[in-house]
Amino acid sequence: MDSEIIKYYTELQQKDLDNIINNSTINYKDPRMVQQVTKHLKRISSKKFINIDWEKVTKLKKIDFINKALKKTGKKNPSYLEIGVYKNENFNLVETSTKLSVDPDKNAFPTFLGTSNEFFRDNKIMFDVILIDGLHTYEQCQEDAINSLKHLNKNGYIFFHDFIPRNFLEEYVPRISGAWTGDVWKVSVELAQTKGINFKVVMADHGVGFLKKIDDEVKYHDKNRKELLYKKYEDFFELNKIVEYQNAEKAFNEFI
Ligand SMILES: C[S@@+](CC[C@H](N)C(=O)[O-])C[C@H]1O[C@@H](n2cnc3c(N)ncnc32)[C@H](O)[C@@H]1O
Repeated sequence: MDSEIIKYYTELQQKDLDNIINNSTINYKDPRMVQQVTKHLKRISSKKFINIDWEKVTKLKKIDFINKALKKTGKKNPSYLEIGVYKNENFNLVETSTKLSVDPDKNAFPTFLGTSNEFFRDNKIMFDVILIDGLHTYEQCQEDAINSLKHLNKNGYIFFHDFIPRNFLEEYVPRISGAWTGDVWKVSVELAQTKGINFKVVMADHGVGFLKKIDDEVKYHDKNRKELLYKKYEDFFELNKIVEYQNAEKAFNEFI
C-alpha cells in the first residue's frame, strides 16, 4: 500500500488552534454570536492537519490526468462528462469534441442546466471519462459516483476533485471556509472497498481521485453509509488507511 500522504501529517499547538478559531470570528459584531461560533468551532476542531502546499508539491493538475485518460481510451473522439463546471476553466481545456457538462447554475453555461441527479434521471449516454466536481457533500458525491459508474464504458475513467481535506475548516459541511473540499473524502473510503475498479488518490490539486472501471458491472460499496455520514475530520486520518495515495508524477507516468 502506497502511503504517500503520511509524510504531510502535522499537529497544531493549542495556541495556534485558538488563534485560528479567534480569527474565524473576527467579522461577528454581536458578542453572543462570537461566543456561539467559538463554541461550535471548538466542537468541530481538530489539531491534526495535512501540511501541504498544492502549488508547490507538483505542477500536475486534474486536467493533465483527464486529458491523458482521454488519450488512453485510444478513441478518436472519446466522450467526456463534467459534473459541476463553474467558470468552465477545466472544461474548456478538455481535449475532445464530444463533451457534456452539468450544472444547476445558469451562469456556468452548462450543456445541461440542472443538477446531476436530474441529468442522470433520463440520461442514456455512456461516457469514456467523467469528472465529478459538483456539490461537495458526501451524500451527493456518493450518488454522483454510483450514477457515473452506471454510465461509464468498461475501461473508462472517473476523476474526483478535493479528496484530501487539509484541515477541519476546509472539510466542514456546510461550507465555512474559502477553500472548501467538503467531506467527499468519505467516497474515497468506499471506492477503496469497491470491487471491479482500480482506484487511487493522487497527491495533486487538492487530492484527485482516479478510478478505472475494470469489470462490466460494478457494485459500489456502500455498506457503511450510515456510520460514514457522521464521521468527522479527525476520523479521516484513521479511515483513509485503506486508500492508496500516490505521488503525482508516479501516478501520471504509471497510469492505471
Ligand atoms: C468546484 S465548482 C466546479 C469547478 C470546475 N469543475 C472546474 O474545475 O473548473 C462546483 C460546481 O458545481 C455546481 N453544482 C452544485 N451543485 C450541483 C449539483 N447538484 N449537480 C451538478 N453541479 C452542481 C456548482 O454550481 C459549481 O459550479
